[in-house]
Amino acid sequence: MNRRTLGQKFARLATNAALRSSLLWRVFRPLMRKQFDSIASTWDQMRGPNHLSAYERALESVEPAPVQALDLGTGTGDGAFAMARRFPQARIVGIDLAERMLAEAERKTPPELRDRVSFERGDASRLAYPEASFDLVSHANMIPFFDELDRVLAPGGQVLFAFSGGASTPIYVSPERLRSELGRRGFTDFADIRAGEGTALVARKAKAA
Ligand SMILES: C[S@@+](CC[C@H](N)C(=O)[O-])C[C@H]1O[C@@H](n2cnc3c(N)ncnc32)[C@H](O)[C@@H]1O
Repeated sequence: MNRRTLGQKFARLATNAALRSSLLWRVFRPLMRKQFDSIASTWDQMRGPNHLSAYERALESVEPAPVQALDLGTGTGDGAFAMARRFPQARIVGIDLAERMLAEAERKTPPELRDRVSFERGDASRLAYPEASFDLVSHANMIPFFDELDRVLAPGGQVLFAFSGGASTPIYVSPERLRSELGRRGFTDFADIRAGEGTALVARKAKAA
């Protein structure tokens, strides 16, 4: 088995562990960080040209346009850049565990987006933001931490999940699982999206009573 296949198997294992328990995620977190730090310089070359098709299509379902948006597990930043281009008034923060992925994201940030897109190191399972800080929280090929994304999302805000290779994406959560986790937290307005090989789901947090 080559290094890439091993890495993909590890990512699937870590995703399932994180979905099962926060204790298990704490075991996997340093390994996940190390894995992505080690492949940061070649990550973009491993991606196909249309790897964000489903993510970009899903952004079309986001309305009203967000003002503050968060891209969790941003990696080398392509999702954050796509959001910034789609929503020219929005400020975007990209969060990642792996410093070297973020260094690539910083290096790649186009000059015209520098005043609206920033990157910070952090763990999506425990974010350093107050409640209701964002009106869009996105995930491209990223493990969802449902309680935490719910906490930082403003009432009426939207959450987006996209998986570049659909069910064969190493970090993948089925739409049934996403709907069930979000549904029991009061999310509605689910939209399923397909583009090329990719799949995505968008949902809205209930508005304040
Ligand atoms: C499969 S990559 C996806 C990167 C990017 N979103 C893309 O689609 O190209 C997953 C990224 O999530 C990061 N990650 C995994 N778990 C995380 C967590 N709990 N908090 C923040 N980042 C995390 C990894 O370091 C990695 O950069």
